Amino acid sequence: MDTGILQYKLVRPGLLKEVIWLDEVNSTNEYAAARNLGSDSLVITDNQTGGKGRFGRVWHSTPGKNIAMSLVKSFRIGVDEVHNAGFYTSLKLLESLLKTHVHLNDKLALKWPNDLMINGRKTAGLLMDCRDLKNPVKKIILGIGLNVNESEFHAEIRHKATSLFAETGSESDLEGQIVSFINEFYSETDLINDTKELMGRWKSHCCHIGMPVRFRLLTDGEEKNGIVKDIGDDGSLKLETEDGKLLSYYSGEISLLLSGMNSNA
Ligand code: BTN
Repeated sequence: MDTGILQYKLVRPGLLKEVIWLDEVNSTNEYAAARNLGSDSLVITDNQTGGKGRFGRVWHSTPGKNIAMSLVKSFRIGVDEVHNAGFYTSLKLLESLLKTHVHLNDKLALKWPNDLMINGRKTAGLLMDCRDLKNPVKKIILGIGLNVNESEFHAEIRHKATSLFAETGSESDLEGQIVSFINEFYSETDLINDTKELMGRWKSHCCHIGMPVRFRLLTDGEEKNGIVKDIGDDGSLKLETEDGKLLSYYSGEISLLLSGMNSNA
């Protein structure tokens, strides 16, 4: 990766304070947390050897093919608005791809809570880490894994993962993608404080409102089918279960049930 371009296009104009490039690291999120990096720092690696996913899962990334990065950003937000940072980041990732990959426009979508989908398959995930919940200014580590030029997927995710390359047949340059995302991210950070507008925009790209899904509460393995009625302004998934109850979930995972439309997503 050409980190000179990142310095030139992101640090020199003052968007980022620093870009830390690592040939290899266990996890960019862990690196940022262990060194207590300041706001507007970006950690990137070509080879993340112990990438973390949500719920303690492993995030695989073939060296040199994809983007594994952590952006550290402070926001003056309440503790009940921290999830806004995740909705904002996934929205901005989608909006940056809408600009760099115009032909994917009708195929890009968001899946609760923070996944980016192309043609119903997961292309990017977000892992957030916020350790100072008591502070009025919350420093958040936004760990982003974006499958860019990946062509080989691990057996257990092959049916539900994809990459920009797999969907377009052509390679994308990683630096360009990062520059586009960071510019998009810094273009509208006040949106984090405008929950209604943020959630409205996020939901306009959501692929599963009104759709039947299978919901899994990964903390205790609970599973149920239902229809997604809405995503609340508090970030909750509003699920109408098969027995007619309307439940709110703040954490968990969904898969779409309709075949041909984002199935197994
Ligand atoms: C998910 O499970 O969907 C979240 C995946 C997040 C992966 C990214 S890659 C960069 C950062 N460092 C990590 O260890 N994880 C995140």
